[in-house]
This record gives sequence, structure tokens and C-alpha cells, in this order.
Amino acid sequence: MVVNRGLEGVVVGSTVLSNVEGQIGRLTYRGYDIDDLAPNASFEEIVHLLLYGHLPTMLELESLKHELASRRTLPGQLIAAMQSVPKTAWPMDVLRTIVSGLALFVPANNKGEHVSDVHSAIELIAKTTTILAAWDRIRRGLEPIEPRADLAHAANFLYMRSGKVPTEIEADAIDTYLVLLADHSYNASTFSARVTASTRADIYASITAAIATLTGDLHGGAASASYNNLVAIGSPEKAEKFVRDELAKGNRIMGMGHREYRVRDPRAAHLEKIAKELSEHRGNTKWYKIARELENQSQRILAEEKPDRKIYANVDFYTAPVLADLGIAGDEFTALFACGRVAGWTAHVLEQLHDNRLIRPQAAYSGPAAGPYVPIEQRR
Ligand code: COA
Repeated sequence: MVVNRGLEGVVVGSTVLSNVEGQIGRLTYRGYDIDDLAPNASFEEIVHLLLYGHLPTMLELESLKHELASRRTLPGQLIAAMQSVPKTAWPMDVLRTIVSGLALFVPANNKGEHVSDVHSAIELIAKTTTILAAWDRIRRGLEPIEPRADLAHAANFLYMRSGKVPTEIEADAIDTYLVLLADHSYNASTFSARVTASTRADIYASITAAIATLTGDLHGGAASASYNNLVAIGSPEKAEKFVRDELAKGNRIMGMGHREYRVRDPRAAHLEKIAKELSEHRGNTKWYKIARELENQSQRILAEEKPDRKIYANVDFYTAPVLADLGIAGDEFTALFACGRVAGWTAHVLEQLHDNRLIRPQAAYSGPAAGPYVPIEQRR
């Protein structure tokens, strides 16, 4: 029995949704290169592409936008639930709990199951940003702001945080961020969603499992950790010492390295561009400059220290300066990642259910050989 630790290199299923070509650094959604999608398509277009299988016509896009907008509002009880928990709660924990809570408001069939269809998927996509924006305000002691149906998904998210309609460059930054994060083949959280769906658990359960899986810092948690690094470094000239100190302590440089990519993550280039533009727009290039230098130093030093492993910036690396420049708190980054990835998760759940087979791998047993039961009084 061959054990592939972390399932590295193991093909566990197929998908038509996205393709990660790690050796050449290409990511495609249903055949469209993200290098074309990121500057041109809106998040809503990507949602349509992933859920319905093709880029929308004008009419289809309007219809999807309308449905997303009509599903943004949260049940009052879930707002009240958020208002009743400690303000110190981590946004990811709040998101996971409230997404799970959404199932309570959807009628179940007589087998206790919720419908897992494209409309439930759209509801989950529509509401995740509302949850995150509401929690941002609640923990700051403010009342949540009702979503606005006339704003696009990304612009409405920023509006629900501040009550101000964002500038075009701010709204575009979030929109492109969500586009870039929307799907990434069988990553850990998506796989988790598919495993859950494969048991015929419903889409709320599957997305809750996916959010839980995204929390760890080897996955979606890396963006927050990467932001903490920028704060700890403080200025670009301290980046080299930081990298050397972290590696000497046996720590990893967050936002660097990837299981699939052996070149720079293609999403990093788009986020770097946005980070630069946003920081110039704000007139404060501090985070961008530290990130730039941190990437240079990390890449150089890691190439010296791990010559056999090609370690480059991943998507989380430039997420940090982009989101920091938009005034989003470092501990919210992973939750915003979830707001983008929920498009892919839901599409994967529906794809899994379309041709389902229970996902149940094997393990090589490495414990003691089978032996007799020892009664408690004879145990030493
Ligand atoms: N900093 C320092 N060393 C790193 C590293 C990083 N960011 N990423 C990988 N390495 C090193 C490991 O220490 C290991 O070295 P070793 O062989 O001497 O022990 C080697 O590269 C291979 O690492 P491994 O953990 O086997 O690779 P993986 O395929 O599991 O790694 C990640 C993928 C993402 C888990 C890993 O690169 C990582 O931990 N990155 C930081 C967290 C992060 O940014 N996650 C977001 C991913 S999108």
C-alpha cells in the first residue's frame, strides 16, 4: 500500500470547473485564463460561468445580479445572534457559524435535507459578504447597514461596511480579488466541501465544512499571517532580517510556496498590480513597498536555503497589502477569501452531486497488531 502524504500527486476526482497548471503557472476557469478574466470579467460573470457553465449574456448577467441582490439580506435572528457573541470573535468563526445558521431558515424536506441547487448556491454567495460586513460593524459597536440592491456585489460589500459608496478603484480592487479567489480546483477546502457533499449532506453543511477547512494558516489563514508579517517588518529595509530570523526559528514565510505551483502563482501578479495602484491612489505605498521587498528577499533566500523546492509568492502574499489598503482588518482576510471561494465551493458541490460517489479513501494501518481485550483490573 503506497501512502501519499497529504494526497500529494494523487488524482482523487475530476472537474470541469478550473484547472491549475502548476509547472507553467496557469489557472483557467472552464477554459478561460484568469489573466483574461481578472482585468475584464466581474465577479458576477465568474459566478455565472462557474454555476451555469458559460459566461453570461447581458440578459443572463442582469438576471443573476438581480437574484444575488434579492438574496443579500440576512434573517434578523442571525443579526441578533451576531450581536450577542463576544466582539473578540474571529471573523472566520462568525462566518462559519452564521453560514451554518442559514440552514435553520431554509425549509428542509421530509428527510431533513435542504435543497442543494443553484439558487441555494446563489444565496450562499450573496450572503457571505453581508455576514462579513455586518460582523465588521457589530464588533465596532455599530449597527449593520442594509445591503443596496442597486450596487454590484463588490461595491455593495464595501458600502455595507462604511455606508459610503466606494470609489471605482476600490470597488474594482475587491471585485478582481473575488474573481481571482473564486476557484482553484481540488484545494483543501474545496475537497472538504466535496467530501461533505458526497455523503449527501446538503449545500449548507458542505460550505460550512469548507469554511472550517479554509481557516488554517497553511491554506486561507496565510493571508492574515502574511499581513501580520508586514506589520512586524514595519519598513522595507527590515525585510531581509525578518526572513532570515523566521527561517532560523523554523517558521515558514506566509504567502510563499504552493503545493501545485512551481513558478509564481499567476494570481499574485494581478494582486501585486492592484496593490500598487491602490497604494498610489491612497497616497500611502507603505504596505505595497514592504510586500515587494519581502517577496524579493524571501524568494532569494528561500532559493538559497531550499534549492530543490521552487518557492514563490502565492495568492495570499499580495492579498495582504490590497486588503490592508482597503481598510479591511488583518483578521478578516481569510473570511474575505471565503467570500470569493464560495463561488467555487458551491459549483463543486453541485458538480459532485451531479455524478456522486461517496468519497471514502483508505488508510494504511500502522498501529499494534490485533490482540485480546484486557479487562480493566489487569491493566498496568
Ligand atoms: N517558507 C519556508 N519554507 C517553505 C515554505 C515557506 N513558505 N513553503 C515550503 N517551504 C519548504 C518546507 O519547509 C519544506 O522544506 P523541507 O523539505 O526542508 O522540510 C519544503 O519547502 C517543502 O514544503 P512542503 O510543506 O512539503 O510543501 P507543500 O507542498 O506541503 O507546501 C504550502 C505548500 C502552501 C503548505 C507551503 O508552501 C507553506 O506552508 N506555505 C506557507 C503558507 C501559505 O502561504 N499558504 C497558502 C497557500 S495558497
